[in-house]
Amino acid sequence: MENLRLSDRERLPDALRVLLADYPRDMWATDPDFDGLIKFWLDRHMMFRKIVATMQSDARSFIDNKIDPATFASRLSRYGGMFVNGLHEHHTIEDTHYFPQLATKDPRIESGFDILDKDHHDIDKLLNTFVERANGILQQRDQANTMRTAVGHFETEMTDLERLLDRHLNDEEELVVPVILKFGSASLS
Ligand SMILES: [Fe+2]
Ligand SMILES: [Fe+2]
Repeated sequence: MENLRLSDRERLPDALRVLLADYPRDMWATDPDFDGLIKFWLDRHMMFRKIVATMQSDARSFIDNKIDPATFASRLSRYGGMFVNGLHEHHTIEDTHYFPQLATKDPRIESGFDILDKDHHDIDKLLNTFVERANGILQQRDQANTMRTAVGHFETEMTDLERLLDRHLNDEEELVVPVILKFGSASLS
């Protein structure tokens, strides 16, 4: 059986992309049913991608001595908090509210929601590691040299986190947006 774990797959299998064939990504924004809900939700995804990219570029700037330890630490604290809290809240709404409803719309893609649910658990583990690493860095904010080594590890881990989060967000978008466009957001309570 195909390995569909977040860390191993390249995309969702074709069988789960049936609706995407009728609603390809480049047509979403011009679809008459592309409304507030879809746009708001895609914007949240874009914001998570931007926060990860910002934290990663901050880490590189710090390693290259382009920003000082205090500035790096305060930005990491601010963006890291937004990222972890925002993503937890986002996953909770998806898992408890949207996915159970969307999964009943079309049996052909129902199993895709189990994959996304597993992704959330995998991302949770990555977030725990992220929090440990970020806290470790913040505790060393007065020792620039030890901090630099820790930020080096952090930067490497962020590359993985960025790739896996982007995989999850893309697959989720390609499963969810076509269902909402087909059945309408009014069918969601
Ligand atoms: Fe998700
Ligand atoms: Fe999401």
